[in-house]
Amino acid sequence: MSTKDYKRYLITSALPYANGPLHLGHLAGVYVPSDIYVRYLRQRNRDVISICGSDEHGVPITLKARKEGTTPQDVVDRYHSINKKAFEDFGISFDIYSRTSNKVHHETASEFFTTLYDKGVFIEKTSEQYYDEEASTFLADRYITGTCPHCGNPCAYGDQCEQCGTSLSPADLANPVSTISGSKPVLRETRHWYLPLDQYEPWLKQWILEEHKEWKPNVYGQCKSWLDQGLHPRAVSRDLDWGVPVPVEGADGKVLYVWFDAPIGYISATKELTPQWEKYWKDEETRMIHFIGKDNIVFHCIVFPTMLKAEGSYILPENVPANEFLNLENDKISTSRNWAVWLHEYLEDFPGKQDVLRYVLCANAPENKDNDFTWKDFQNRNNNELVAILGNFVNRVLVLTHKYFHGKVPEITGLLDRDKAVLDEIKTIAGDVERSLEVFRFREAIKTAMDLARLGNKYLADTEPWKLIKTDSERVKTILNVALQITTNLTLLLDPFLPFSMKTLRGILQFDQTSWDLIGSPDLLEAGHTIEKASLLFEKIEDEQVQAQLDKLMRTKKENEEPAEVALQKEEISFDDFSRMDLRTGTILEAEKVPKTKKLIKMQVDLGFEIRTIVSGIAEHYRPEALPGKKVCVLANLSPRKIKGIESQGMILLSENPEGTLHFVEPAADAINGSEIN
Ligand code: 2FM
Ligand code: ZN
Repeated sequence: MSTKDYKRYLITSALPYANGPLHLGHLAGVYVPSDIYVRYLRQRNRDVISICGSDEHGVPITLKARKEGTTPQDVVDRYHSINKKAFEDFGISFDIYSRTSNKVHHETASEFFTTLYDKGVFIEKTSEQYYDEEASTFLADRYITGTCPHCGNPCAYGDQCEQCGTSLSPADLANPVSTISGSKPVLRETRHWYLPLDQYEPWLKQWILEEHKEWKPNVYGQCKSWLDQGLHPRAVSRDLDWGVPVPVEGADGKVLYVWFDAPIGYISATKELTPQWEKYWKDEETRMIHFIGKDNIVFHCIVFPTMLKAEGSYILPENVPANEFLNLENDKISTSRNWAVWLHEYLEDFPGKQDVLRYVLCANAPENKDNDFTWKDFQNRNNNELVAILGNFVNRVLVLTHKYFHGKVPEITGLLDRDKAVLDEIKTIAGDVERSLEVFRFREAIKTAMDLARLGNKYLADTEPWKLIKTDSERVKTILNVALQITTNLTLLLDPFLPFSMKTLRGILQFDQTSWDLIGSPDLLEAGHTIEKASLLFEKIEDEQVQAQLDKLMRTKKENEEPAEVALQKEEISFDDFSRMDLRTGTILEAEKVPKTKKLIKMQVDLGFEIRTIVSGIAEHYRPEALPGKKVCVLANLSPRKIKGIESQGMILLSENPEGTLHFVEPAADAINGSEIN
């Protein structure tokens, strides 16, 4: 089915955990693309709702609260408002931003569980799990460390050893320790409910691998790999006191697993938004799309669809256009290492420049592979694209209209072929943008949309109204009319991507329509219509601003740096041992690379009383021509030894940094060759 065959759209965006602020990786991966898509659909006058909210359950939230000496509710209240505001600030236009700690969600998730429970979907199983007696809590796999049975790493996690990469279960670890209290956990029996994913495997294979071959390769590939490995029943409850209580008799102290309740949050939020929620969730003519990051693929493509299928009355997602990850300046974004650009900090440093970030994150979105955000690229895209292409075109049109026609749209005095060609091109470009958006290719879409501004610049450069005005002002009327039509079309075409700037531009043009279907219509601005004075849509970003951001990151890096690992001290020696070494100062006279070796340099070293040949493995650190004249310290009474056929008569002292760089141990510049070092 193509877009127009659907009656309505249900767009969900991953519910971010309410235990930390949002960074640009969140925007790039999930929320900018989903917002572009939703805004586009709204402009097309589709029945669409955009759903999001805070994911407020799960162990990390309880731990954060414990660490801060507060309650989980306090933590989620705080971050819910911070994140809700950040989304609003960046124009992410959800129809609702709900939260999973609210009543309607608890009721909805509880009912959903009960329906599956009553249908006999779950398997109930008792197993032994680690329990922290000091903290009085069962331990999620991540909160147990111990020795990896494969490589001996003493800090392996209960679910994985990060040293050898093996997947583990807590029982595999030797010497398990609770990361919460540091105590040794004990095994305790506990009962849980499992969703039998294995029973749904044939159906999932058919539904995804056969019927959704159009899903993005990264999404399809990940699903295939899960399905090829074979699915297993997955526990949907946890022993915890924070979450949606398991609605079963005798299940005190148990809550729904956060990944069971969170996606149901999409349903609860819809319920909260509209009494007609069922038509969005239960009518086959609704197109449901989940926007997520790649770490959420299995939950949205396998687990949640299985839950929906098992329940029976819900529709399934039509597509799950998950993105890969965005790195920052060549390093993985990390909350714990503070390696991130936090949205609230960005707005403090670049007030009013939300669209610039939206633009850069879309143009450079990690659609098919992980991508890198760099401040240099941010500056370049702003200065060379938004300012130089879009801003420049729009500004010239507005300024010239005021200069020549007192801000009134001039009439068309006669269209030449080249004018007609430009006007025709508007529809072609819009068609291409549409096609890219329909298949979630947002990078391609924004690039194509910007082609209209490029076309406008070329049109002005070719027709040169500033020259013609002296000789043919009638022709200039047509040129500026065409240029103003292009400008007006830009407000429609770029609105999903740059909503703030296009709103400003609509204000200047005194044009208040946003319908996509108007794109390419003749006379969007009628002759005689008055426009406002121009104001700059985008400003240049200076080198100093970029440098300030890089400096900020550099400071973070320094704070994170672990103290260098210095080699352990060697065993004690006597003074006699030391005094047996004949250490002297010397000067390198000549140096040459030893042929057919990578590391060796042969040197002639003046020790005052004689000149020695010494071979040293320093060619990867020093060029031979840089060495003559260098003062060095030499162990002069080391027995001579042959290296590549050359007799080396001593050893030059070097210090070696932990990462392997070498430095000469240098005596003072006025040290006389042959002086003893004691
Ligand atoms: O990865 C995350 O941030 C999760 N909180 C996403 C949940 S998406 C949905 F299922 F609610
Ligand atoms: Zn290991």
